[in-house]
Amino acid sequence: MKLAQRTALVTGAGSGIGRAIALCFAREGAAVAVNDIRRDRAEAVAQEIRALGRETLTLPADVSDSVEVRAIFEQLTAQWQRLDILVNNAGIVELEPSRQQRLIQAHMERLAGSGAPAPLAISQSITDMEWRRTLAVHLDGTFYCTREALKLMEAQRYGKIINMASVAGLTGLAGAAAYSAAKAGIIGLTKAIAREAIHCGVYVNAIAPGFIDTPMLAEMDAEMKRLIALQAPIGRFGTPEEVAAVALHLASDDSSYTVGQVLSPNGGFYM
Ligand SMILES: NC(=O)c1ccc[n+]([C@@H]2O[C@H](COP(=O)([O-])OP(=O)(O)OC[C@H]3O[C@@H](n4cnc5c(N)ncnc54)[C@H](O)[C@@H]3O)[C@@H](O)[C@H]2O)c1
Repeated sequence: MKLAQRTALVTGAGSGIGRAIALCFAREGAAVAVNDIRRDRAEAVAQEIRALGRETLTLPADVSDSVEVRAIFEQLTAQWQRLDILVNNAGIVELEPSRQQRLIQAHMERLAGSGAPAPLAISQSITDMEWRRTLAVHLDGTFYCTREALKLMEAQRYGKIINMASVAGLTGLAGAAAYSAAKAGIIGLTKAIAREAIHCGVYVNAIAPGFIDTPMLAEMDAEMKRLIALQAPIGRFGTPEEVAAVALHLASDDSSYTVGQVLSPNGGFYM
């Protein structure tokens, strides 16, 4: 087992990629604390971890609220004293149907070579609330959790911080300006903190998955999914388990020379 005796906290672990990572780490021997803004989801995954015979904690909180984040770290340290692995995974995405339709239509028009394209009118319709909430959950949340984790990890002179970015942060995605900006911000944050924290044996890296079949994309138009899958040479979406395998590599001592990197399991969508 690669994570025996380790303790981990995974944010947004009540669903999709976070859940797969939490279960993968538990199978590899770690005690895993489960955060999610949805208490019911966090409790369900904690139950699955218990069924694997591992210790767990349920830590519901909104990662975009620094007071709530501080409180869950206090709860965690009261129980476990140390934290070896933090996965900043919690996230949201805005999949407004009319925006998806406009993107599909523009794609079809380009293929058909027909006339002057109509304005997409997507980024101009992003509200202040959507912009702020997207940046708050992804970027503020990653920073707040990292800040608390560093207090523990630098003192214990060991730690692994894994930040969930996205191909959106590497190449930019049409129709997802706030999300792409937040994910690019996470990549910058990863690299800056990686340079500082490695002095104390704390490794900070990011994962930038391509499109992964999770509940996050349940609202995505079927045609949109088909177009995206075709853009990846592998011709399909990834699975949460395929991302969890990369997270396990970064969480384990197999990645002992990997600092400030962005690993991108994306089926060739972005090279
Ligand atoms: N699915 C993809 O294609 C894909 C691709 C690249 C990156 N990602 C990233 O991977 C991460 C996980 O995505 P997923 O596809 O598993 O999504 P998901 O919707 O299945 O799971 C996300 C979880 O985060 C929780 N959450 C949302 N806001 C939160 C908050 N403020 N505080 C705490 N928890 C919160 C949700 O309740 C949910 O359980 C996200 O950061 C996402 O941006 C996903």
